[in-house]
Amino acid sequence: MVHVKSEREIELMREPCRIVKDTLQFVGTKIEAGMTTKELDTLIERFIRSEGAYPSCLGYGGFPASACISVNETVVHGIPGDREIRDGDIVSVDLCAYKNGYHGDACRTFCVGAVKPEVKQLVKVTEECFFKGIENLKAGTPLYDIGYRVQKHAESFGYGVIRSYTGHGIGKEMHEDPSVPNYGKFGTGMRLRAGTVLCVEPMIALGTWKVKLLNDGWSAVTLDGKPAAHYENTLVVREDGVEILTL
Ligand code: MF3
Ligand code: CO
Repeated sequence: MVHVKSEREIELMREPCRIVKDTLQFVGTKIEAGMTTKELDTLIERFIRSEGAYPSCLGYGGFPASACISVNETVVHGIPGDREIRDGDIVSVDLCAYKNGYHGDACRTFCVGAVKPEVKQLVKVTEECFFKGIENLKAGTPLYDIGYRVQKHAESFGYGVIRSYTGHGIGKEMHEDPSVPNYGKFGTGMRLRAGTVLCVEPMIALGTWKVKLLNDGWSAVTLDGKPAAHYENTLVVREDGVEILTL
């Protein structure tokens, strides 16, 4: 069931969303070749806690860190560890903060050092996919129009749209209904109501959209080993458009 938020609830969600945005900005100033993903995670955890928030990923379903840090071929849910970030890598940092009884959630893919032009383009187009996805989104829009628009843009570059992970509703829980796929048929799905809070999060691969789960039980990597990018914001559906809370 989709829980439509009251204005009061949306007001409470602003702070965790602002903290997520600030944390990602902070990551942009710190991320560099030579550091391990665990070192980056430690900085993230400290930053989120210094804002009086809790890093929602930590302990979620047993996840052992404060952020999902996914390098190159890792699409989502990379576990921070000993992997060293290298010049030319792309690094997706997906994080959530919990405060005021609500979660905020967003992701950016960072280019570290000299990233190949074709991979840089993938990162840029993945961000574009988010904005294409929410084009014309407002109260009354059919849910799968989002995925239709994301898919159309991604596939026009020959990229693969990840199928097995989706966006989602968010609020008191990190994952609420509805599920928001990044593919779909135009004009189908439930009509979204004003006050619905969603995470729209295109995950786009340079090659195949097929992924496999690593033995760690979390990391999803592309089957062909080619890089994938991820871009996400938390937003409110409004009568006349959307309000993005993590920008
Ligand atoms: N933003 C991620 C998602 O929506 C957060 C996952 S936290 C984890 O899937 F603990 F499940 F990794
Ligand atoms: Co999410």
